[in-house]
Amino acid sequence: MEDIKIGRRFFLKSGGAAAAVAGATVIPIRNANAATSAASSGTTLPYPKKSVGAAKGMPLNQAVSFAYPDDSSPCLAIRMGSPVPGGVGPNGDIVAYSSYCTHMGCPVGYEPGTRTFKCGCHFSIFDPENSGQMVTGQATEDLPRILLAYDAATDSIHAVGVDGLIYGRQSNIL
Ligand code: FES
Repeated sequence: MEDIKIGRRFFLKSGGAAAAVAGATVIPIRNANAATSAASSGTTLPYPKKSVGAAKGMPLNQAVSFAYPDDSSPCLAIRMGSPVPGGVGPNGDIVAYSSYCTHMGCPVGYEPGTRTFKCGCHFSIFDPENSGQMVTGQATEDLPRILLAYDAATDSIHAVGVDGLIYGRQSNIL
């Protein structure tokens, strides 16, 4: 087999040329990706408007189940009994959240005694009176809040959007 001797100068020159070629090809690809992601982030799908029920008929300090934005996304609405930030209804005390825990997606349950959501899988606790804030546990994110609208003329509550990403989804609207 024939030995091929490569001089130091030749090696450096060919390495530099290869780097220049690689650089020339990488830059346009990176720019193309940036343009694609910028274009896709501009897409916003509309949320549906779904009835949650009558405000005055809601039980006090108990969870009412519904699904939003689609049937595979369980949620809980609660009439807290006193006004809370972001609350709707005649007293500004009705709030709603996704019932999928933000840690690994187990269902959370509402505990009236402590006025908190608790996850039985790894014991995360969330506060419905403070925007679903994670209080303790394995979860690192707050519960996604279901945005509600109140119509005083008909005393009806409707879900109209979601603030936060529902566990397990890349987009809240599938
Ligand atoms: S799934 Fe809720 S704390 Fe782990």
